[in-house]
Amino acid sequence: MKFFVDTAEVEAIAELHALGMVDGVTTNPSLILKSGRDILEVTKEICSIVPGPVSAEVVATKSEDMIAEGRKLAAIAPNIAVKVPLTWDGLKTCKVLSGEGFMVNVTLCFSVNQALIAAKAGATFISPFVGRLDDINMDGMELIGDIRTVYDNYDFKTEILAASIRTVNHVTQCALIGADVITAPPNVIKSLASHPLTDKGLDQFLKDWAKTGQKIV
Ligand code: E4P
Repeated sequence: MKFFVDTAEVEAIAELHALGMVDGVTTNPSLILKSGRDILEVTKEICSIVPGPVSAEVVATKSEDMIAEGRKLAAIAPNIAVKVPLTWDGLKTCKVLSGEGFMVNVTLCFSVNQALIAAKAGATFISPFVGRLDDINMDGMELIGDIRTVYDNYDFKTEILAASIRTVNHVTQCALIGADVITAPPNVIKSLASHPLTDKGLDQFLKDWAKTGQKIV
């Protein structure tokens, strides 16, 4: 399973990338706002750090304008995946840009039918939002499983990029179901290393080691 990091914070991306944890990056307009950076500038910097797909989102709503924005974003670097919302205009944009050879990430997916139609429009990635479905008392993980089944039934090549991942349990469930990619904020990725029994065990080892009075170096 590939790990994408869901942030536009360059330092956090670089830290995780140094450990081999970053197969790609996803950004969105809210994350660009949070970074306080210019979208073209920060996206270029991210692409210089991470060789894998870096999603940059269009903000127009009409397909002609979305296509123009997508081409401009794609010109930043060869590893840009143009992110488009799952609207009819977004699907038109997906069809055109994927036909031109660009990677396209279709985002804001909340149903199997949306995932199905995005695959038919040539999406490289489909981004179902797990956490936002959980927020409204629906089962985000059930959606990931259903999309997996449908894509496998028809051998669609579109990759399932499980998004809006908020907890380490979401990551476990996505790995068990067979999502191709998860995108999560840096703190969630770092939390994957944590376990209370690891902390407790290490604490005991260090206390016992101190009693030996020895040094290794
Ligand atoms: C995905 O591409 C989105 O940027 C992201 O996962 C949204 O997550 P949120 O619902 O926690 O904002």
